[in-house]
Amino acid sequence: MLVLGGGGREHALCRALADDREVTDLACAPGNAGTAGVATNHPVSVTDGAAVVELVGNLAADLVVVGPEAPLVAGVADEVRAAGVPCFGPSAAAAHLEGSKAFAKEIMAAAGVPTAESRVCAAKEEVTEALDAFGPPYVVKNDGLAGGKGVVVTEDRSTAESHAAACGRVVVEEYLDGPELSLFALTDGTTVLPLQPAQDYKRIHDGDHGPNTGGMGAYSPLPWAPPTLVEDVAGAVLQPTVDEMRRRGRPYAGLLYAGLALTSGGPKVVEFNARFGDPETQPLLARLRTPLAPLLHATATGELAAAPPPRWSAAAAVTVVIAAEGYPGAVATGDVIDGVEEAEGVLGAYVLHAGTARDEAGRLVSAGGRVLNIVGVGADLAEARTNAYDGAARIRMRGAQYRTDIAAPRSRLWGYEWVQIRPTT
Ligand code: AMP
Ligand code: GLY
Repeated sequence: MLVLGGGGREHALCRALADDREVTDLACAPGNAGTAGVATNHPVSVTDGAAVVELVGNLAADLVVVGPEAPLVAGVADEVRAAGVPCFGPSAAAAHLEGSKAFAKEIMAAAGVPTAESRVCAAKEEVTEALDAFGPPYVVKNDGLAGGKGVVVTEDRSTAESHAAACGRVVVEEYLDGPELSLFALTDGTTVLPLQPAQDYKRIHDGDHGPNTGGMGAYSPLPWAPPTLVEDVAGAVLQPTVDEMRRRGRPYAGLLYAGLALTSGGPKVVEFNARFGDPETQPLLARLRTPLAPLLHATATGELAAAPPPRWSAAAAVTVVIAAEGYPGAVATGDVIDGVEEAEGVLGAYVLHAGTARDEAGRLVSAGGRVLNIVGVGADLAEARTNAYDGAARIRMRGAQYRTDIAAPRSRLWGYEWVQIRPTT
């Protein structure tokens, strides 16, 4: 089996797959210093379809799992399938759901999926009109892929306008108020198997301040979520979207990621992604009790209807992302990372690598914006959180930054009237 990508999500996937008795050979490309511990890394660019297909042939891989969005949008999953090998990840035509915000809006409108009202704008006058129409807070989204950094939500009109001018084609939309959560589903294009909800912290600083990032931490389960949330979103969002994609001749198979806001008018879609979320996948997989490989294989081969539904641990999991100095802007790389073994020694905590590598001397060094993920597991969120932060405190790296409020109770993100004391699972 071959996993494509090299972030925290891919280390989490590799770790879960390596635990799976059915997986005899596990490879990762390009991987990171963490995946090297559980899989064989191959220095292949994930967006180079020909190189990926060649690697798949050399490895005689029986399943390819695509982690990030860039290779999906570039059609790498199509190339792997064309070579006769099952691939977990949608076609380029289907991944357009993540690749273009305007296309996602069109699909949602056709499928009757609840989402923010929006306008696609190219010219400056269109942007001005849309900003006037929706009013502050302004939400301006780059139409194309931007690594989680293409969205500006601001009270400041000139910030909204200059972001629009810098992007070209944008989607301007209504501001959605309410706690956000992520719900993922496996789908083979027909059957939809929702996973468990998780919550991601997008902004760089505590209290949700500062610019958006790829995600600074996450936890699962959500003790405040309505008990029927998964069922409701599967019925109102996930299944109709998958059905609409199939109707349009762009069958969607792989992982469908719904980013949702729980508004007073019910859950509404903030965004779709065509792959596992990073870092939400890390706490999610910490709670998965069913072997992962058969689920991914059934998704890739159209056999999800016959797959046993995933089982989840009632335990809670919290992931804290440790980022490099400067993130989400330009970051320095090559900083030495110490303390990983100590963090692994914390009971109920483990470390997943994201942007890490080994230097010539074999030392662990930073190699990206998000560097490490510390996962804490516990009987409840408070315990999981303590374990994650105990682990994070052991990491030493110049300029390291992390949020201190991941999964903190009473944060703005916790749902309002739905608060319960214990997870309902
Ligand atoms: P996206 O890349 O579309 O997920 O947007 C990144 C982040 O911007 C989301 O996770 C939200 O926190 C915020 N955001 C996006 N769209 C909206 C919206 N319509 N209303 C409020 N916040 C939004
Ligand atoms: N955590 C947000 C994302 O994966 O897009």
